[in-house]
Amino acid sequence: MATATSVKQQKFTLNKLPRMGVSVADLKIEDIDDPELRKQLYDLYVQEGLILFKGLFGRDTLVKLSRVFGDLQDAPLSEWHTENPEVMEVRYAPETGWRMELNGKEVGGWQPWHTDGVYTKTPNRGGIITCVKMPSEEGGTGFIDKMESYDLLPEDIKEKIDPLYAIYNIDAIEGFERPRFGQQAIKTIHYAEETLNVYNRRHTFPEVAHPLVITQAETGRKMLNLCPLFVQRIEGMDKEESDGLLRFLVPHATDPNRAYIHYWEPGDMVLWDNYRSLHCATGAPADEVRLMEKTFILGDYKLGREL
Ligand SMILES: [Fe+2]
Repeated sequence: MATATSVKQQKFTLNKLPRMGVSVADLKIEDIDDPELRKQLYDLYVQEGLILFKGLFGRDTLVKLSRVFGDLQDAPLSEWHTENPEVMEVRYAPETGWRMELNGKEVGGWQPWHTDGVYTKTPNRGGIITCVKMPSEEGGTGFIDKMESYDLLPEDIKEKIDPLYAIYNIDAIEGFERPRFGQQAIKTIHYAEETLNVYNRRHTFPEVAHPLVITQAETGRKMLNLCPLFVQRIEGMDKEESDGLLRFLVPHATDPNRAYIHYWEPGDMVLWDNYRSLHCATGAPADEVRLMEKTFILGDYKLGREL
């Protein structure tokens, strides 16, 4: 039902989400080839960085909707491909998933704040994620706006980090279990086979450097381009200085008071700008299945560099 703040566009109903992004309801996928509708949605994506679509179902719809925002690329890690490599399955099952202890509780499907593909020199521009099998409780997906994170930095820090690069590697196990800069740590009870596969071939991924500050091409707005998971150090700094800066920036970039946590309902699809936001998964009961599907929207990011 539309609220007082709803805006009825030509072919959908728009509402603000708390803290980041908008929701789009009443959109019919049959209308998706309409050029005017595609432009409206694309412009919203650039302005808001996050769109929650309501009432859309199925993998074909997921792919069709994703193509409004760009060409698709294959998911970077083949361990989670479906029959269509453009669609990745994010799965947790009690027997086979990465089962962990967090705050004294057993959970599955938890992921700390991150940007997808930051361990490559060309992260995807964005993606759409949908929940195929929901747990009975929890299982949220969180988002934080990296533009706001930049805007809220003290001026001297903005100046200091402007020319700097952060260095990343793909070791998720280290990032989950032994985060060094203020992220929460988990204790593993059981690893997923896919996670161990990636871990065993981690040396085939070179370290990469990304600028700490990037600019949105369409608007000139700046973003704090820091991914707390996978970050190792600041290029050109000694360990003490680098660790000190990251111990300040990581808690700032992941302030829970600025996060929008989405709890899934049937028919939800969430589009996020992967350059502009961090995301996380809050975890779900360890004895329940959680199954998500997501796409990777190709970007034109040319700022990453392999070391
Ligand atoms: Fe992710």
